[in-house]
Amino acid sequence: MCGIVGYVGEKNAQDFLISGLKRLEYRGYDSAGIVTLAEDGEATLIRAKGKISNLEEKMAKAKRSDKTGIGHTRWATHGEPSERNAHPHKAGKIYLVHNGIIENYKELKNELKDFDFQSETDTEVLAALIASFYKDGEHPLLNAVVQALKLAKGTYGIAVVSENNPDEIVVARAGSPLVIGVGHDETFVASDASALVGHTKQAIYLNDGEVARVTKNSVEIKTLNAEPVSAKVEEIETNLAAIQKGGYEHFLLKEIMEQPESLTETLRGRIHKEEGTVRLGGPGLSEAELRKIKHLVIVGCGTAYHAGLLAGYYIEQFTPEITIETVIASEYRYRHAYIPKDAVALIVSQSGETADTLACLREIKKQGIKTIGIVNAIGSTIAREVDGGTYVHVGPEISVASTKAFTSQVIAMVMFGLTIAQAKGVRSSMLKPYIDEIAVLPEEIGKVLEEATEPVKRIADKYKTYEHAIYLGRDTAYPTAMEGALKLKEISYVDANAYAFGELKHGPLALIDDRFFEVAFLPKGDLYEKAISNVQEVLARGGKMIVVTNRDCDLAVEDVVKITTDIEIFAPILMNLASQLLAYYMTTAKGYNVDQPRNLAKSVTVE
Ligand code: G6P
Repeated sequence: MCGIVGYVGEKNAQDFLISGLKRLEYRGYDSAGIVTLAEDGEATLIRAKGKISNLEEKMAKAKRSDKTGIGHTRWATHGEPSERNAHPHKAGKIYLVHNGIIENYKELKNELKDFDFQSETDTEVLAALIASFYKDGEHPLLNAVVQALKLAKGTYGIAVVSENNPDEIVVARAGSPLVIGVGHDETFVASDASALVGHTKQAIYLNDGEVARVTKNSVEIKTLNAEPVSAKVEEIETNLAAIQKGGYEHFLLKEIMEQPESLTETLRGRIHKEEGTVRLGGPGLSEAELRKIKHLVIVGCGTAYHAGLLAGYYIEQFTPEITIETVIASEYRYRHAYIPKDAVALIVSQSGETADTLACLREIKKQGIKTIGIVNAIGSTIAREVDGGTYVHVGPEISVASTKAFTSQVIAMVMFGLTIAQAKGVRSSMLKPYIDEIAVLPEEIGKVLEEATEPVKRIADKYKTYEHAIYLGRDTAYPTAMEGALKLKEISYVDANAYAFGELKHGPLALIDDRFFEVAFLPKGDLYEKAISNVQEVLARGGKMIVVTNRDCDLAVEDVVKITTDIEIFAPILMNLASQLLAYYMTTAKGYNVDQPRNLAKSVTVE
């Protein structure tokens, strides 16, 4: 979480810092700050509680033409969101911005008895430690940072400047991303390449354990043990349009509406309807290796976890002799789970930076298990550390609530499952219905979005004062219900929970009263009738139910969202669009911040 930016060059640093921070605001937004240095080293530090716009207002009164600076947007870990706790933190002539957590900050603080701490943060301790090591000589800032980091335990991405060295920034990384953008007579620093878009296409991604000294026309990288590292310059693929709202009021609505296109990108070159085959290059597994797979472990957090659950339901339908376990990364990393050698792990993450997911990836790799990334952010840490992978290619997802990534993650995993089934010799007639439906799914998504938007908007308005909701489904509609409930709670703050229909009578049925509304997903299929019986149980207890279905519905329910489609297998994915829209319109009806829900952040790089 948190966003870092830095600039050293010929132009106005404040301008880049503020525009970069706005791009990164999705990573955290409870306070923000920048420091810039004049040529003679005079520093201007501006910090503000709340959104970047508050910082911008303060900045308007303290305009500088300084050409070096660093900035930060914060998602609080240690210490409440306040100006005092906002970064950059100052120690003597040192200023530091930091993502991550310094776990041994209390011990270090005890050692720094003479320092007059102003905040409750772990970051200020690191700043004071760096200041304590600062000594004149060659590259004094770099040396001080290296010495301090050798004592620091935990995770960090940092950028540091000093009043004594106004033409350089020192950056370092351990577990929290950092990218250096190389321009002409200017160098940029950011925790995420999206801040660099429009400024440069050349990026160097730091690896864990690396530290770099950056000036306007040089980047020197070494390890903490002083071994030089030769920088690999990579191309940033994102364009400016992809990170703008494109006429929509919110990123969330834009991202929901662009799913026909984003899923098309996921499928490009991979699904061959005429041949009835799927071809994925990225996983890099031979036919023989695919044939040998007996277990899949699918790891993710939040929406990525739900995508893994849903994909697991599908893959086991058509892949023989395979067991699938979808796990929550924050739990799995501390379990003592045995993974059989004939397993492959799918590591699912939109950002490719989620700390728990990354930790699982590293643990699983240690056990010698092949890991395949289902990642969106190109060049992200998970994408770089997995053995192989399938990028979902949905473009930047900026709104905190994940939508288009979910749809594409499910399908990318199903496609991976199909390649296993193909290799295992599953009859093509068995796989064809899946491939046929996937091929037309983008178009069907477009139709459903058009059909469902208005009815869902009306329903959202009707239920906007409710504070409790129950989402229900069976089989593939169950993970769909889970994802729907997550969407509603994270942005509209409705206490929404999902249950498998069959579990209702084991507890949740006791909840039903007029404070609740229910959302039931009823796809056509073998289990439809069973789900109907469960619906009746809820109605008999006075439930107010919204049914989302692709069948004609004559149930005596409050509201129906009809999904008109020939798609059957993947109908739950289409139904999930109704959940996304319901969450969006409930939130706008309540007047909450859609793209930046309270207390949350998009990319969770702390445990
Ligand atoms: C955060 C986001 C969620 C996301 C989850 C996992 O909680 O707000 O939208 O599903 O992290 O993120 P990842 O980037 O690993 O998919």
